[in-house]
Amino acid sequence: MSPAAALELRSLCKRFGPKEVVTDLSFRVEPGEVFGFLGPNGAGKTTTMRMVLGLIRPSAGKLLVLGEEMPAGGRRVLPQVGPLVETPALYPNLSGRDNLAVFGAELGGVPWSRVDELLALVGLGDRGRDRVARYSLGMRQRLGLAVALLHRPRLLLLDEPANGLDPAGIREIRSLLRNLSSAGTTVFISSHVLGEVERVCDRVAILRRGRLAYLGDLSSLRASTGTFLVRIERADEALQWLRAQPWGGSAQAGPDGTVEVLSPTGRGRDLNRALMGAGFFADSLVPCERDLEEAFLQLTEEER
Ligand SMILES: Nc1ncnc2c1ncn2[C@@H]1O[C@H](COP(=O)(O)OP(=O)(O)OP(=O)(O)O)[C@@H](O)[C@H]1O
Ligand SMILES: [Mg+2]
Repeated sequence: MSPAAALELRSLCKRFGPKEVVTDLSFRVEPGEVFGFLGPNGAGKTTTMRMVLGLIRPSAGKLLVLGEEMPAGGRRVLPQVGPLVETPALYPNLSGRDNLAVFGAELGGVPWSRVDELLALVGLGDRGRDRVARYSLGMRQRLGLAVALLHRPRLLLLDEPANGLDPAGIREIRSLLRNLSSAGTTVFISSHVLGEVERVCDRVAILRRGRLAYLGDLSSLRASTGTFLVRIERADEALQWLRAQPWGGSAQAGPDGTVEVLSPTGRGRDLNRALMGAGFFADSLVPCERDLEEAFLQLTEEER
């Protein structure tokens, strides 16, 4: 038997009244993975995370968190989950440091050394003694992350953690998440902006109107166009021949004697075989990569 997934969704559904917001959602997040949960506004990310945290019940399907079925297993498993969902609920009149101490006390108490270590980790080392009411949105987000990390969770659940962070802040958090993941923590992170998770995630699930539109790694998403730039002798003739093929109608001339064409199967070797069969010999076949942002928008565009 394979070891328990950090998170497993099996045909998960959520309805609010007649409205289905999450539909037949299935995927596994492996232990130690940094997993991106992507989708435009209203796609169902927060709703899914609230189910994972046992805050709302699934309407149908199964949900396993660290091997335990939710919401029944919540009491056993939630102490090992560090959540940051939407705006963190902080005490505005206390300092960041005292906020951490109060949340720590709820977990049975944490030493000040741990509090200060966390403040430094999220980049609030020099602002820890300021009242939270004076914090910017990005600073509150950082403090929320520190709260989520207090009890060294096995699974970190972050809903739009980049909210309010400037590019330098996003970068810092990214390296923090990488460090946590190399130390064995599983990170599940949602965003509506692909660029925010692009450089940190091993795999992503992309949601579109509550349904899974893509599951896998980002490099396959980038490379999944099936189009190749072929450098070939007699490029003009090759182009004529390609256009006459049932699969080659969209072939066009590329730069400097190249031809851009969709492979009959999506694979380079099958395109090469077809060309050779017709007596055209390629010097090189380079897969055309799709811009990731473009691919993400294509997968989700009907949303808007
Ligand atoms: N309690 C509720 N009752 C009715 N509808 C709800 C409820 N909570 C969420 N919804 C609806 O569910 C859909 C998904 O919302 P959700 O907050 O999960 O999206 P999201 O992917 O987190 O979006 P965003 O990027 O804006 O945070 C939306 O259409 C929302 O209006
Ligand atoms: Mg949301």
